[in-house]
Amino acid sequence: MLKAQVKSHTVSRRPRRLRLSPNSRRLVRETQLTPDDLIQPLFARYGHDQKRPIASMPGQFQFSVDNLKDEAKAIADLGIPAVILFGIPRHKDWCGSENFSADGIVPRAIGVIKEAAPDLVVISDMCFCEYTEHGHCGIVNSPDNRHFNPRLPLGYLLNDPTLELLGRASVTHAEAGADIIAPSGMIDGMVSAIRRALDGNGLEHVALLSYATKFASAFYGPFREAAESSPEFGDRHQYQLDPANAREALKEAELDIDEGADILMVKPALSSLDILNQLRQTTNLPLAAYQVSGEYSMICAAAGNGWLDQRETALESLTAIKRAGADMIVSYFSKSAARWLA
Ligand code: PBG
Repeated sequence: MLKAQVKSHTVSRRPRRLRLSPNSRRLVRETQLTPDDLIQPLFARYGHDQKRPIASMPGQFQFSVDNLKDEAKAIADLGIPAVILFGIPRHKDWCGSENFSADGIVPRAIGVIKEAAPDLVVISDMCFCEYTEHGHCGIVNSPDNRHFNPRLPLGYLLNDPTLELLGRASVTHAEAGADIIAPSGMIDGMVSAIRRALDGNGLEHVALLSYATKFASAFYGPFREAAESSPEFGDRHQYQLDPANAREALKEAELDIDEGADILMVKPALSSLDILNQLRQTTNLPLAAYQVSGEYSMICAAAGNGWLDQRETALESLTAIKRAGADMIVSYFSKSAARWLA
C-alpha cells in the first residue's frame, strides 16, 4: 500500500495520454457497436396499407402486413441481421386463439417478411398478452372457461394449460417460417414445453431465445400502447420478476439453460446491467438484452425537449449494454443506429 503510494508520486500516471486524439481513442476502444448486434422490433396489425404512428414512441409504427414488405427490405438493406415480431390481432378471446391460427397476424407477417428479405432472421415474440381479451400472458383462472380450478385464486394465470397453448402457437409460427421463437411470458417451464412441441413436429432446427430474466417493469409502459396489450385487471407481478431480486433472476436463467434455451435475454436493459454482467461471467450461451419501450421513449422525449442529444445518448446506451455483456440488443433505435454507424 505504502509502496504503491510512493511509486505513484515518482512515476507520472496519465491515462489521458491515450485519449488525446480520435485515432488514439480508436486504438484502445474496447467495445465496438455494429449493426451486427442489433435486432429491430416490428409491430404487425391487421388491415390494409396501414402505417400507424405509435404516439408514445416517436418514429415507431404499427404496419399492416402488406406494408411490412418494404419495411423488411429497408431493415435488411441497413445490414441489420434480425427483426422481432409482435402481432396486434383482429380478434381477442379468452385463450388468445389467433396466436395459434395459421392465418393469424404473425404467421402472415412472417410469410411477407421472408418473401421480401429471405435472409433476415425472423424472431417471433411468443406470448398471449396481445391476443387475450384480458391482456394477461396466458389463460386465467375463471369459472367462464373449462380450465377453471376452484382451489386456485380467481384471476391466477394458469401455468400448465398456458404451456400447452404456447407449444401450439410456437409450432404455428415456426411452420410459417420463424427462425427463432422467443417466449416472453415468464411462464414456468415455457422453454421445455416449446422445445418439446417443436421437436415433436419436426422443427428441431428452430432456436429458442428465452426472455429468461424479465422484470415486472414500469419501463414497458409505451409498449402496451404499441401492442395494445395492457392487462384489464391486476398487473404482471405474479409472473414477472420483482426488480429488487438479483439471485432470483439468475435462478430463472439457470432453469432456462437446463430447459434447453439457445439464447438468454435480460430485460429491461439499462436497469439490469448488473444481471447481464453476472450472466456473462457464468454462462457461455449467447446473451441478448432488450432496450425496452420506456428506455426508448425517455431518450426521445428528452431529446424532443432539447435536453439531450438523441443520437449520442442512444449510441452510448447501446454501447454500455454491449459492454456489460450483450451479444445482441433488441432496440427501437436499431434502424437509426445502423444509419449512424454506417
Ligand atoms: C410480452 C412483451 C412485453 C414486452 C415485450 N414482450 C410486454 C410486457 O411484458 O408487458 C415489452 C417490450 C417493451 O417495453 O419494449 N409480449
